[in-house]
Amino acid sequence: MSYDLVVIGSGPGGYVCAIRAAQLGMRVACVERWPTFGGTCLNVGCIPSKVLLESSELFHKAKTEFKKHGIKVEPELDLAAMMKRKDKIVTSLTRGVGGLFDKNGVDGVRGLGSLTGDGRVRVTATDGSTRILEAKAIVIATGSEVSSIPGVELDGEHVFGSTEALSLDAVPKKLAVIGAGVIGLEMGSVWRRLGSEVTVFEYMDKPLAFADADVIAEAQRAFRKLKLGFKLGVAVQGTRVVKDGVEVTWAKRGSEESESAVFDKVLVSVGRRANTDGLGAAEAGVELDSRGRVVIDDHFRTTVRGVYAIGDVVRGPMLAHKAEDEGVAVAEIIAGKSGHVNYDAIPSVVYTHPEIAWIGKTEQELSEAGVDYTVGKFPFMANGRAKAMEGTAGFVKILADATTDRVLGVHTIGPYVGELMGEIALAMEFGATAEDIARTCHPHPSLSEVVREAALDAGGRVIHF
Ligand code: FAD
Ligand code: NAI
Repeated sequence: MSYDLVVIGSGPGGYVCAIRAAQLGMRVACVERWPTFGGTCLNVGCIPSKVLLESSELFHKAKTEFKKHGIKVEPELDLAAMMKRKDKIVTSLTRGVGGLFDKNGVDGVRGLGSLTGDGRVRVTATDGSTRILEAKAIVIATGSEVSSIPGVELDGEHVFGSTEALSLDAVPKKLAVIGAGVIGLEMGSVWRRLGSEVTVFEYMDKPLAFADADVIAEAQRAFRKLKLGFKLGVAVQGTRVVKDGVEVTWAKRGSEESESAVFDKVLVSVGRRANTDGLGAAEAGVELDSRGRVVIDDHFRTTVRGVYAIGDVVRGPMLAHKAEDEGVAVAEIIAGKSGHVNYDAIPSVVYTHPEIAWIGKTEQELSEAGVDYTVGKFPFMANGRAKAMEGTAGFVKILADATTDRVLGVHTIGPYVGELMGEIALAMEFGATAEDIARTCHPHPSLSEVVREAALDAGGRVIHF
């Protein structure tokens, strides 16, 4: 078969790229090695984790918060039903990608895609049969995989990554989580809310070490309230399966003295690695960097003419919306248009409770760059909707250029703050000032009023605090 574009990988990067290219009139195939489309995000990432976060938060609220609302219940966990609901949502969304392919005339091709080195893609099916796809252009969108650390071997049963953590059939009594990054905090929260005693081991001195310091201080208060245990500033040295569980050994950073304890299960969430397994990238001349990521230029071009790469397999944050935006941009570039991604306006959201979300520069980055900035901050405690929701912890902090008032970064923690990021990303894309946000009518009562009040505060004229 002959195509204008063959995309390898059907995650948010690959499937969005394939659809956009088809919209632009290209004949497109999207090759996927898994039985379902949608990649990490839809199958074993964003979607199933958010389903479990929602369900476990409701369970937790039913136990701890309903009585404040005057509701008396004695909640009981039906984990199998919770997992079944998650699986149903995943199935509906992954099937939906197949439907979108049909609607847009994209050929979804099952099998492992590899580069032949002469501008074609070989597809190897699970039965070992192969077929060759001719391609004028190829996009590598093969995503990422769980990685581990020396001494910690993933066996999928006692010591595992996020995929297994999304499908446990019983609540572990004692769960160790290695890494207080996004996955560790989200999945640690899920199992803590469902009853596990959770200990999170983190190399740095605080969780989410790269996020805004005020946000992290507030988050740590919330994690304490949830009784999420932390061992900070420690390096995990190894895990060992023993008779009654898994022994985890660690040492204070820089110290020789080890400590150890036994847990029922261990979740490893120390980052993900770019996935180029079976792709034949090196053989085809596609350069990889020291971390195994496909090297690209500003137009997503790899070192081989006609071969592009996007998403988790290239540099930048490993986020679904970043992969999607790159998918659109590369399709437009291949079609001869001017596709572009603004890396300064990509939001990040951690779906804990309260949620944590940010976009743009941190105060530390602005100080290091010598940029003068103003800070506007407003707490959810002074917001009517947040009070109605029992969601008064947290705040919105806006950083604006001291001279131009242009918004440079926004850092938030609070109820559903991820939902506020669309407004802020839009404002930043349009080069808005804090004054622009402050003068925009926001609905009352709504959480979004906190964004407006923070923008008012940046101009020294906050109203409700
Ligand atoms: P992927 O989604 O990884 O897709 C790559 C696809 O390529 C896979 O389907 C794979 O099977 C296929 N493939 C690989 N090699 C081949 C080959 N040789 N031939 C054929 N097919 C191949 N991001 C967010 O923005 N928000 C979230 O809430 C969020 N939550 C997450 C939760 C978890 C537990 C995890 C693990 C990740 C989460 N992420 C989240 C990250 C997000 O899933 C990734 O950033 C995103 O999926 C990257 O998209 P991608 O298209 O680059 O790759
Ligand atoms: P991460 O990079 O977010 O966090 C890894 C953590 O592990 C870091 O804090 C690091 O300091 C720590 N660590 C590393 N080695 C250690 C050791 N030996 N001992 C103790 N701690 C150690 O990686 P994570 O959580 O695995 O997530 C992978 C990717 O998936 C992230 O890049 C994220 O962008 C994406 N993701 C996004 C989500 C979202 O957007 N809500 C949700 C889940 C994942």
